[in-house]
Amino acid sequence: VSGLLERLQAVLGPEHVLVDPDLRASYETDWTRRWTATASAVVRPADTSEVADVVRTCAAAGQPMVIRGGGTGLVNGSVPAAGEVVVSLERLRTLDAVDEVSAQITVGAGVTLAALQAQVRPLGLDFGVDFAARDSCTLGGMVATNAGGERVLRWGVTRTQVAGIEAVLADGTVISRLAGLPKDNTGYDLPGLLAGSEGTLAVITRLRLRLVPRLPARVVALLALESVAAAVDVVRRLRSLASLEAAELFLADGLTLVRRHTGSPAPFVATYPVFLLAECAARTDPSEELLELLEGAAEVADAVIASDAPGRSALWRYREAHTESINAEGVPVKLDVAVPLPRLAEAVDRLPGVVAAVAPGARTVLFGHVNEGNLHVNVLGAPDAAAEHAVEVAVLELVAGLDGSISAEHGVGRAKREFLRLSRGPAEIAAMQAIKSALDPNGMLNPGVLLP
Ligand code: MLT
Ligand code: ZN
Repeated sequence: VSGLLERLQAVLGPEHVLVDPDLRASYETDWTRRWTATASAVVRPADTSEVADVVRTCAAAGQPMVIRGGGTGLVNGSVPAAGEVVVSLERLRTLDAVDEVSAQITVGAGVTLAALQAQVRPLGLDFGVDFAARDSCTLGGMVATNAGGERVLRWGVTRTQVAGIEAVLADGTVISRLAGLPKDNTGYDLPGLLAGSEGTLAVITRLRLRLVPRLPARVVALLALESVAAAVDVVRRLRSLASLEAAELFLADGLTLVRRHTGSPAPFVATYPVFLLAECAARTDPSEELLELLEGAAEVADAVIASDAPGRSALWRYREAHTESINAEGVPVKLDVAVPLPRLAEAVDRLPGVVAAVAPGARTVLFGHVNEGNLHVNVLGAPDAAAEHAVEVAVLELVAGLDGSISAEHGVGRAKREFLRLSRGPAEIAAMQAIKSALDPNGMLNPGVLLP
């Protein structure tokens, strides 16, 4: 390893090859705080050509690498497992001028979502994907994991926003498709393949991203409901509004946790079991059409509406503060599942029971993105590692039995790898293995992530 470190120092400069344990530490875990292991070094290349040099140098030495964006992952996909070199893309922060004619922008992989939003919003444009980790998560990581979030019902997942990619392959060669042509029907869609590949096929270094209109008139409604079935039915009707942009679910115990952690006031005088947060956005004020629709919805027991920015963020905080509020109580088992929407209420109904059966005393907190049938299952207080594993098995088998997915938007990483077979058949997994072997035959990139 020492010869390799000297070569990496010669390529990047000693200040960008971190070997000191204190300096490495923040790169050796993710937002779950559940997984950690030692890296041989953390390297911080500045651009595509330095990434290519790093990959070539490590590959020549047979040194596996873990690729890292903002470290906000939740599935042990950006954490070393056994002495890998962590390749942090945090210095790839170039933000080109917005191409307003095409409504596209080219960015470095290390640009945060919040920095992209700050660059494009003054021009009346926006990025179609958004979620609570925006200040830390990076575009390279978002594309590598095909992140989802809160606006998927309107604009689609991250893969949909990708118009081009520059990436370094496992042997250090660079592929670059950044022209962003909406029509370019010339064979395999390599950017589409790399989106969601979780760093296992190549290192994404630059992106050409589609932008969407930043719709200026917005209204957020927090609705109190008696059941998840009612929430699903309200969302079914809300979809008739072209302005609908988000439809998020949380439950009474999640609200209690969030209020304890944030000090936010109770949104309603009475208590309710289920909450639906909906946002509409348009060129002109969508409040009236939203209110009209809600007036006809008998299931809505109570509602708070906000159209000014501070009021909207106060309502969003009840939903977005779930992750940090749960983490403040302990290290949860985090599962991110999706079921067909007609079965969402059944899933919410059955999940606490299957958890309690294998981890008595544990607490199940559920929240998520209604329209995609996407539930975040957070289990606090499982007594030991065996119980945590039993929780994973019980939840994911239930979800598979409902024709669902074991990972809706967080990806597979190493954390969900043993369960991939519940969502993908043997022929599909073999096809994925064949792609991995073709592009990274020596297993240098994110070994153990996604596939064994
Ligand atoms: C969210 O929707 O808030 C994220 O997926 C994060 C989480 O699941 O904790
Ligand atoms: Zn989510």
